[in-house]
Amino acid sequence: MRSTLAHEFIATVRAVVGDEPVIGLHEPEIGEVEQAFVAECLASTFVSSVGPFVTRFEQEIAAITGARHAIVVSNGTSALHVALTLAGVRPGDEVLIPALSFVATANAVVHAGARPFFVDANPVTLGLDKVALEVVISGFERRDGVLVNPRTGSRVSAIVPMHTFGHPLDIRAIVALADEHGLVVVEDAAESLGSYVGDRHTGTFGRLGVLSFNGNKIVTTGGGGMVLTDDDELGARAKHITSTAKLSHPWEFEHDEVAWNYRMPNINAALGMAQLTRFDGFLVEKRRLADRYSAAFADLDGISFLPEPEGTTSNYWLNAVRLDVADLALRDALLQASHDAGLKVRPFWNLLSDQRMYRENERGDLSTARELLDSVICLPSSPRLARLP
Ligand SMILES: Cc1ncc(COP(=O)(O)O)c(C=O)c1O
Repeated sequence: MRSTLAHEFIATVRAVVGDEPVIGLHEPEIGEVEQAFVAECLASTFVSSVGPFVTRFEQEIAAITGARHAIVVSNGTSALHVALTLAGVRPGDEVLIPALSFVATANAVVHAGARPFFVDANPVTLGLDKVALEVVISGFERRDGVLVNPRTGSRVSAIVPMHTFGHPLDIRAIVALADEHGLVVVEDAAESLGSYVGDRHTGTFGRLGVLSFNGNKIVTTGGGGMVLTDDDELGARAKHITSTAKLSHPWEFEHDEVAWNYRMPNINAALGMAQLTRFDGFLVEKRRLADRYSAAFADLDGISFLPEPEGTTSNYWLNAVRLDVADLALRDALLQASHDAGLKVRPFWNLLSDQRMYRENERGDLSTARELLDSVICLPSSPRLARLP
């Protein structure tokens, strides 16, 4: 039974992605445009933290997302660290984050001196669940106008919703809930460049949002990230504290606070600018690939394609399917058979609450997150796969 399903699963994926012996999960597309932009950067000798591509990349991302300010940094993790700090997260705080996320979401909270508090997932959006958040918050107390976790005595200061695999979560409801309780929202949009709720870009609903341009993302700079905000003061602060807090002067090195060097080199921004010339095409291709997977899996019993939530537009960064009945052993059998067949599919990340450094952290009920972990498989999603005949 298990081997029949594995056989059918592989045949279904292969019907979409073709018969190359090995197919990766998400490969960057590097072509002539990328080579030309990077060559131009090299020829200019402006390969480091200052240069025209950095400014252009920030302007272009601001235009795409509609954020008033886009501040480019070295990666998505540093973007989250900066955003949490600017959002007012202080050492000793607790921050509500999804148990189902990449480890960076939790690590950035710790880098900001705070502790992650893990919250359950929504089975449709795969992101933070509003009801689960409400349940967790109902266990907190308000002391002197501040939300406090009575079990630890810590202030609870922020929520970090994350748009999983590019599928937008119900961000408006979560921002409303946060407002009601005086919590600040930092949106982890690392995976969702090109994803919208209605006609508004993900990452622009919270006080601050972040993007990642890691090599596996829809647009890559090799490594990189972006802080988004509509707040003029936070935008200026983000630039200042990520670039050593140096006061502008032709020769003097005066810095007005302890700050970070989280700058993105111009050479990486050149790669990013090249990628952006193809971004609209990537989005079209990824949607086409998603349509093909959706149609192919419609005919396979026991496994369902995970479509974009209603009212949203996903970038379909990673296409994913879900076993209709969560079954860890079956999931692993499908992963093993697929890898043996050259298909580099993968599961969700292990729950953050199960990672050894976070096992003692506070958490709500995580049963949906666990069910998703035991049932979701991500499929090869490189845009080029949509160009196959
Ligand atoms: C949800 C999420 N948050 C944060 C990050 C961190 O980004 P980076 O790898 O650029 O540090 C990533 C991806 O890598 C991610 O998928």
